[in-house]
Amino acid sequence: MELLEIARRRKTIRKFKKDAPPLNDILYCIKVAKEAPSGMNSQPWRFLIVSNAKKKKEIRNICEEGEKKFYKRMDEKLANWVKERKITWEKKFLEDAPFLIIIFSDRNSPYYIQSTWLCIGYFLLALEEKGIASLTYTPPNADEIKKWLGLPSRYRLETIIPVGYSNEDKRKEKRKEIEEIAFFETL
Ligand SMILES: Cc1cc2nc3c(=O)[nH]c(=O)nc-3n(C[C@H](O)[C@H](O)[C@H](O)COP(=O)(O)O)c2cc1C
Repeated sequence: MELLEIARRRKTIRKFKKDAPPLNDILYCIKVAKEAPSGMNSQPWRFLIVSNAKKKKEIRNICEEGEKKFYKRMDEKLANWVKERKITWEKKFLEDAPFLIIIFSDRNSPYYIQSTWLCIGYFLLALEEKGIASLTYTPPNADEIKKWLGLPSRYRLETIIPVGYSNEDKRKEKRKEIEEIAFFETL
């Protein structure tokens, strides 16, 4: 399949079936992701794969506590955006998805955030290639999850990506036309 086709097909999924994709498919996607470029080739990304039900439940509890507070201070524009999509502080997908892929960056590396997000982009496309659905979830209280996991301060939690098979029939969010975002010689 062409890369353009894979990129067009990928969309965010927030409801997952309980059955797990093969771990080897996830490892394949991490192999793709780790080919991403990084500042000074420091490869600052770290992948933590969580499938244990108790751990997923605790991660969900911590995230939902953070979300409840976040929903109280959210501005109107975002409040409307989430309402239209029926997104709430409840994050059931953190328990339902068979795997949570928690991605960290290493603060001791140059351009650690930019590099890790490039790697995340590769990862999302690779998941799509394997027919695995994903959500780029960014918890408002990422530090609390990192603390609960007992990880050293050098690691920054960038995202939690629930992965599995889609249990939702939804349209992909619309993209801008190429004329709106690409320019010759001057913006
Ligand atoms: C950096 C980043 C942070 C995101 N954080 C969240 C999030 O916390 N919760 C959520 O439901 N979706 C999150 N998303 C998913 C976006 O809402 C989604 O990608 C966007 O609306 C476009 O939809 P599509 O991925 O289906 O094309 C995030 C995406 C990115 C790239």
